[in-house]
Amino acid sequence: MANDRTAEEQRAEVLSNSQIRDYGLYENGLLKIDWVKGRMPLLRQLEAEFAQSQPFAGKRVVICLHLEAKTAYLAKVVQAGGAQVTVVASNPLSTQDDVVAGLVHDGITAYAWHGATQEEYTAHIRAALDAHPQMIIDDGGDLVTTLHHERPQQVAEVVGGCEETTTGILRLRAMAAQDALRFPMIAVNDAFMKYLFDNRYGTGQSVWDGIMRTTNLVVAGTTVVVVGYGWCGKGVAMRARGLGARVIVCEVDPIKAVEAHMDGHQVMPMSEAAAHGDFFVTVTGNCDCITGAHFDVMKSGAVMANAGHFDVEISKPDLQERAVSVRRVRTNVDEYTLSDGRKLYLLAEGRLVNLAAGDGHPAEVMDMTFALQALALQYVSSGNLTPGVHDLPRELDDRVARMRLAALGVSTDELSESQDAYLRGWGHA
Ligand code: ADE
Repeated sequence: MANDRTAEEQRAEVLSNSQIRDYGLYENGLLKIDWVKGRMPLLRQLEAEFAQSQPFAGKRVVICLHLEAKTAYLAKVVQAGGAQVTVVASNPLSTQDDVVAGLVHDGITAYAWHGATQEEYTAHIRAALDAHPQMIIDDGGDLVTTLHHERPQQVAEVVGGCEETTTGILRLRAMAAQDALRFPMIAVNDAFMKYLFDNRYGTGQSVWDGIMRTTNLVVAGTTVVVVGYGWCGKGVAMRARGLGARVIVCEVDPIKAVEAHMDGHQVMPMSEAAAHGDFFVTVTGNCDCITGAHFDVMKSGAVMANAGHFDVEISKPDLQERAVSVRRVRTNVDEYTLSDGRKLYLLAEGRLVNLAAGDGHPAEVMDMTFALQALALQYVSSGNLTPGVHDLPRELDDRVARMRLAALGVSTDELSESQDAYLRGWGHA
């Protein structure tokens, strides 16, 4: 009884410290977390391990990720390892308010609500930094860059952290190149078990899930323009083809352009592709990929979605400038009517369509990604790394692969001693 009261008191304190939409939604949030947990055996294994070994005992950890159910389970795994966890959104539209309420119910302080304005989004990041993190998990770099810009006096408190995404790692590398990054960050995105599966199969599935559930339109027989042929773009193009679309790829990198061609896609610049597309998906990590001149020649009815980290790939200012009217015609679908009567459709305000208009990558995929994150956090917690961007050690990548194979019940061959010796030798014919 006394313990129950203490738990209630702790919950009330966490709730009063948090900034969330509606605590009353927590039961649905807990159901969502439970559903994904059932499909995340790697994280379940790490949760049990961490509960015993307490690798984060007493440490303050701030997690700045897309706050949906899989992320929530990662936060609980880190909490099981002994950390005091605070979560904050890495995108104003990807937060699921019920999931965040569920986390608060389970003792995790949260600063996030769906549809935060830019000011609210930044205020949430600042509030999370008030927790004085000693370790960080970031997605896109907003937490780490804000910390360096606005709280230089707090930087020395941070042992290190991990970064989830391509965009975040680009920003970290830019900081490191200017000697501005003051603690070690693990480039989780660059692990094989991340980008080969999360970026390709995760994005491939979740982007089309987001587009299809939002528009309820057919993809078969249409022309899909994929802008960017990195690992995410490859996944989006592959699944578009699987849905029966003709795929056009736009690229700036000559090697990736050849790859897209050899994969059987048409390759052309956006200036040509613009007039052909029924669907456009940007996946570049860069700004201004689809701009005014492209809108000028698009077919009426064209649907545009972005799957890159920031909402800068499709130029909203150019679209707005050309529109005589804008209206929301379905949840997450904005219709821009141009002066010649053509109608162009932008999904999820040009923010990550798979998270702002969907639930993100499938649980089984995020299980691998978040197992890497959990192990990367444990690795960085040693405090032995120098400031800068570090790769995840190959042993941890291999460990996650073996965990996944074991969870699937799949066994593999092992090198025999003689095969191993053969590979190491050079004297044979
Ligand atoms: N769920 C949580 N984080 C995600 C991410 N970065 N991409 C897709 N789904 C996610």
